[in-house]
Amino acid sequence: MAEIVIVPDAEAAGDLAARAIVALIERRGDAVLGLATGSTPLPVYRALAERAAGLDLARVRGFALDEYVGLDPAHPESYRSVIRREVIEPLGLTPELVRTPPADDPDLQTAGERYDAEIRAAGGVDVQLLGIGTDGHIGFNEPGSSFASRTRVKTLTRQTRADNARFFDDPEEVPRHCLTQGLGTILEARHLVLLAFGEGKAEAVRGAVEGPVTAMLPASAIQLHPHVTVLVDEAAASRLELAEYYRDTYAGKPAWQGI
Ligand code: PGA
Repeated sequence: MAEIVIVPDAEAAGDLAARAIVALIERRGDAVLGLATGSTPLPVYRALAERAAGLDLARVRGFALDEYVGLDPAHPESYRSVIRREVIEPLGLTPELVRTPPADDPDLQTAGERYDAEIRAAGGVDVQLLGIGTDGHIGFNEPGSSFASRTRVKTLTRQTRADNARFFDDPEEVPRHCLTQGLGTILEARHLVLLAFGEGKAEAVRGAVEGPVTAMLPASAIQLHPHVTVLVDEAAASRLELAEYYRDTYAGKPAWQGI
């Protein structure tokens, strides 16, 4: 099963994830990171900027999970812009080595296939950071997504558009479509690190970790992966039936082991 770590706050989760990523980059300077957007991964990027201060990150490669369709890539809320602002610039990554799904490609039908091919050519993702939507999505794989899905165009749910309206001046501005890595694509990453903070995520986290594996809750796909770490604060962990067991397990783990 996934390793569930209940941490006091988002900063502690960010630090744990950043430590794992730094250890990876120390082993392999050209590590491939799977990058998530939204509010959730920000503490990871902040901790990484601190912890990686003495490290050369110029060869690190990255692939973002998703991108809006129909939003100018230069728009400040396009995920290309977000990744540049929150990840590439603060960490000093090489912009050409960090890719976002090409949602402005005139041939959208095959753009996903080409993105998956790029990930494959890079040798696959070493560590994939994941947030979780209140509707249980990972990437933008909304309820009903196939567990075998590849990078493709999806329609955002009303819930997701409402959740993301906070990033835009006008809720109508939130795009209706996206190009997102599929669940099948995400499951190919070697290590999945799912983070969730706050009461609003508690039900989705419970379903993802302890519920049945079902396309109705796309994040439950993580149960099919052999190396998953779930980092949650107390509020996001509040509906977990086995919370005490997760705490005991983590408390009994040798310090050297990492996540
Ligand atoms: P959030 O979004 O990090 O902004 O809460 C998570 C997601 O939709 O995956």
